[in-house]
Amino acid sequence: MPLDIVIGTQWGDEGKGRVVDLFAENSHLVARYNGGDNAGHTVTVADKIYKLHVIPTGVIHPQTFCVLGNGMVINPGTVIEEMDMLRSTGVEINPARLMISDAAQLITPGHRLLDRAQDAALGKNQIGTTGRGIGPAYVDKAARSGLRVGEILDRHSFPDRLRAHFTDINKRLSALYSQPEIDVEKYTAEYLEKAESLRPYIKRIGPEIQTALKMGKTVLAEGAQGSLLDLEQGTYPFVTSSCTTAAGVFSGLGIGIQPVRKVVGVAKAFQTRVGSGPFPTEQAGEIASFLRGSGSKPWDEFGTTTGRPRRVGWLDLVLLRYTQEINGLTELFLTKLDILSGLEQIQVCVAYEREGRKIDMLDFSCDAKSLAQCVPVYESLPGWKEDLSLCRRWQDLPVNARAYIEAIEEKTGIPITTISVGSERTATIYRD
Ligand code: GDP
Ligand code: IMO
Ligand code: MG
Repeated sequence: MPLDIVIGTQWGDEGKGRVVDLFAENSHLVARYNGGDNAGHTVTVADKIYKLHVIPTGVIHPQTFCVLGNGMVINPGTVIEEMDMLRSTGVEINPARLMISDAAQLITPGHRLLDRAQDAALGKNQIGTTGRGIGPAYVDKAARSGLRVGEILDRHSFPDRLRAHFTDINKRLSALYSQPEIDVEKYTAEYLEKAESLRPYIKRIGPEIQTALKMGKTVLAEGAQGSLLDLEQGTYPFVTSSCTTAAGVFSGLGIGIQPVRKVVGVAKAFQTRVGSGPFPTEQAGEIASFLRGSGSKPWDEFGTTTGRPRRVGWLDLVLLRYTQEINGLTELFLTKLDILSGLEQIQVCVAYEREGRKIDMLDFSCDAKSLAQCVPVYESLPGWKEDLSLCRRWQDLPVNARAYIEAIEEKTGIPITTISVGSERTATIYRD
């Protein structure tokens, strides 16, 4: 019963889509278990670039069966757009290979309006959300007033449930944020039309996944966001509203605790973040421009979902060790090593200090206030000049690039089994 999990180890955008695409080739079922269309997962196959927000990245391989889990929040409009985009590139989309959990929550345009109003109202303390309505949809879920995907199936009660929802959104928009009201009938009619097209895809997913596992088929869980954005273990309150860690797989897919073959942590060779929140190794100036890129290349550090420039900095091994602890990672997949080519020296953060004293990791807390007080302690490693994009074997890498990888392994205790040196499927180096 091989269950494999792919997790982001940083603040998202580590290259999970690219990694899932590689593993999906040998997987039967690929499932998203958290988040919604705040995610942006990019896969490059020859001259095609797929940017997926809700449908699992594994869908590009024709033999996979794909699942949107109950831990997700689903915006029907985005799902339909993505289905159309995939079909236009020749990817087959039908209910025989795509399922949406009846227990997932729905995101409505009302949630999006609330998300934006709420974040704007925070002023200088804003989280910088993606504005996709993620937080408000999970709030309604926790308040037990949310709309579930399965409700779409009930043609009698769903329209009234929607009307009640949009009426309630209006109350919140005007009372809390002095925002204009929306037209309840118009929003209800438009939403009903979109939601209706999801009908054939709605199922109870747990048994499907259980059956696949019992039959010995490979199930791949695709994490969205990153471990440091986890609602409970991340840099709270600058987090997303779902469980982004490996633990979320079991509740987010409704499969109970299962043996796991591997938990692959995806780590970028440097650190990035979109939105607000502490970032101890953040860089500005020349180093930042170097790491971010100018925006001319598809992999430059500009958000897939929002287009915002990502904040960038040196790799933080303290946080990587922390994400190992909270996920039980079995291995690391290191992405974007090629981007570091050309630096004289590369810094890695190996410890933190507070008020001039090293922080004992037992006293370490990842919440935003504590992390903001942490001062990184760096070790400097020699860089390399060579272009790595054509390296395909470990021995093709320059000595200093290999030393960089070995230093990460040594300081985190996590084996790095795979390295990528380009966005293309083939730009991958497998260690023995
Ligand atoms: P995700 O959200 O974790 O799936 O990551 P994103 O897709 O948001 O961002 C990762 C970006 O880096 C994408 O544009 C990928 O195509 C690109 N990428 C992934 N791995 C590599 C790599 O090894 N080298 C380069 N240059 N780009 C990469
Ligand atoms: P992928 O799956 C990077 C960030 C937002 C914001 C915070 C909360 O592509 O790695 P939200 O809209 O979720 O309420 O925003 O989380 N965020 C991401 N950052 N990659 C993502 O997804 C993200 N999804 C959310 O920028 O700081
Ligand atoms: Mg992304």
